[in-house]
Amino acid sequence: DKAGYRHFMAKEIAEQPVVFDAALSHYLGADGLPQLPLDFSGFDRIVLVACGTASYACHIAKYWFEQIARIPAEIDVASEFRYRAPVLSPRSLAIFVSQSGETADTLAALRHVRGQVAQVAAVVNVPTSSIAREADIALPIFAGVEVGVASTKAFTCQLSVLAAMALQAALQRGAQSADEIAALAADLRLVPGLINASLTGLEAIAPIARQLAQARDVLFLGRGAMYPLALEAALKLKEISYIHAEAYASGELKHGPIALIDADVPVVVMAPRDALFDKTVSNMQEVMARHGKVLLISDAEGIAEAGAGVWHSLAMPSVAPVWAPILYAIPAQLLAYHTAIAKGTDVDQPRNLAKSVTVE
Ligand code: M6R
Repeated sequence: DKAGYRHFMAKEIAEQPVVFDAALSHYLGADGLPQLPLDFSGFDRIVLVACGTASYACHIAKYWFEQIARIPAEIDVASEFRYRAPVLSPRSLAIFVSQSGETADTLAALRHVRGQVAQVAAVVNVPTSSIAREADIALPIFAGVEVGVASTKAFTCQLSVLAAMALQAALQRGAQSADEIAALAADLRLVPGLINASLTGLEAIAPIARQLAQARDVLFLGRGAMYPLALEAALKLKEISYIHAEAYASGELKHGPIALIDADVPVVVMAPRDALFDKTVSNMQEVMARHGKVLLISDAEGIAEAGAGVWHSLAMPSVAPVWAPILYAIPAQLLAYHTAIAKGTDVDQPRNLAKSVTVE
């Protein structure tokens, strides 16, 4: 049931303030502190494994585990992980993230680590799935059924669980004080309201997407944890609009991809005002100096400071920088959605793709 929406994807994007909040309520206690049934104090590292969009959630979480909890975190896509002879620590926590819980590569990777790590956790949307059942502990993401092949609400709900895990790891390992963790958790609790505000505040996206639909190639740039979000944004766009899209860490641009830039290549710059903002802006200016068409996604202050001469800008609500990858998933999803609409592609059932990939 699309509940009056034109597509499941639109419905699932719109559900995010509610489902994200539900997931947070489950993992953050009334005292504002994380309350997961996990003890991070004995782990020496974290290994995160998944495919596709779920792997980008893991990639963002790697930044969180390292920044917030100061624990080494390693990521890989499941199809590479188990064949590269990973060196596993018997004191590590392995986390497998999967919406369906049935992805063949992720399940095989989970089976590969069993017995070689201290604990296996599954972050899943389907609690009865194989990945949930075979893990030592399953942490549901509470996104509700996701029908659209392009994953949206599952991604943000995966991030909610992974964020709560990073906070709990920081608390249990003494990386930050309880007050600091409570402050970060309070900022996280603001995110559902900010998602809601951005869903209503982003009407400007449809006309921009109609122009984007003319492009043959689109680049996405981000720094820090916005880099994996840029990867996710590019995946969303290519999956449903069939436009060739790639993402780079902004600083990598000058090491090759800048050769692609000309007046026909839109470059989407995902730049919340964080500690790396000035660096991202200087990368953006390198693009503009080569006549690249920049779509700057930032907050009002960031756009006032750096938006002169850009092709388009989209103003986001201000958000604690550490949680910006969650909020900025919304314009990434809407941009892909409206571009696909403009191109007339099958948004919910893109060609060649299945919701759950149960073959290797
Ligand atoms: O069910 P899973 O989360 O394990 O699926 C992983 C990927 O197949 C999935 O995220 C895929 O990349 C989506 N179509 C992305 O929108």
